[in-house]
Amino acid sequence: MIDRITELREQALAELRALGRVEEIEPWRIKYLGKKGAVTSILRQLGALPPDERRAVGQVANETKTLLEAQLAQKENELKEAARAQAMERERIDVTLPGRPLALGQVHPTTRVLREILDAFVIMGFQIVEGPEVEWDYYNFEALNIPKDHPARDMWDTFYVSPDGRPGEMLLRTHTSPNQVRVMEKTRPPVRVVVPGKCYRYEAIDPSHESMFYQVEGLAIGTNITFADMKGTLSAFARMLFGGERKVRFRCDYFPFVEPGVDMSIDCYVCKGAGCRLCGNTGWLEIMGAGMVHPKELERVGYDPAVYTGFAFGLGPERIAMLKYGIDDIRLFYSNDLRFLQQFR
Ligand code: PHE
Repeated sequence: MIDRITELREQALAELRALGRVEEIEPWRIKYLGKKGAVTSILRQLGALPPDERRAVGQVANETKTLLEAQLAQKENELKEAARAQAMERERIDVTLPGRPLALGQVHPTTRVLREILDAFVIMGFQIVEGPEVEWDYYNFEALNIPKDHPARDMWDTFYVSPDGRPGEMLLRTHTSPNQVRVMEKTRPPVRVVVPGKCYRYEAIDPSHESMFYQVEGLAIGTNITFADMKGTLSAFARMLFGGERKVRFRCDYFPFVEPGVDMSIDCYVCKGAGCRLCGNTGWLEIMGAGMVHPKELERVGYDPAVYTGFAFGLGPERIAMLKYGIDDIRLFYSNDLRFLQQFR
């Protein structure tokens, strides 16, 4: 009897070892340890044995049962673990695959030049401030000595918006100069500001005219500020942007809010003044308008013109960018053509 049990045990263990899948476990259990299983039926037969034999056989049979149960549990764990590992392997994601590249943009040429311009003035002690793009007629014109019937209004035809009850009083600013007045109304001298921002004009659009463009306004007010200070500041600026060897030229020009008014040019850095296509054979490139702030404008904001003087200037970053990069059409800046924009990396 004991030999039969030993034989049965070895057979059961061999079969168990050979199992490869979790689903095969249960049939094996039923076969050996189930209610009608081989080991169970041996245990049942114990009662029929003579008592002396029963003890020895019973011990071996019970040990076998315990052994098989333990082996079964272990095998079941092994197979489940293997199945889990297989599933993991199947669902594995290869995180080392390269991602899809993101299209990287770059700074717009206007922004790029705007930053250069502002940096140059910040180095010289100017603060950056901003003002509204939708402006009152008062700040854009009246406060700058350009009354309703003044012919100078022709220089700045614009887009009017009509707020309730105040037709013709609100417009898209044609220049950043209204901020001269806005800044002075809010502060006392000394004033050193640059004001970047978008401006709008009702223009016949061509290679050098757009209906939307940027300007940078500058304003310096204090005691003892002279025309020479203006020339020095603007010359230093021109050399920072266009090279230390640049010559500058100031000529009389008219803007109602400055007296005297000038335009500033740099000598053409392509032909060094000899005359070429870029400078239209003049040898000079005009880069901004400027002048000493008009006493009437100072009075209007409560600055005593006998005590305070100062200068203002205005320039167009697109024009500066065109000169710096040899761009011949201002319309390229805002027509969203990537072939143009991607050149400024
Ligand atoms: N605002 C003037 C323009 O748009 C430029 C300017 C600014 C001139 C400041 C003189 C002083 O043409």
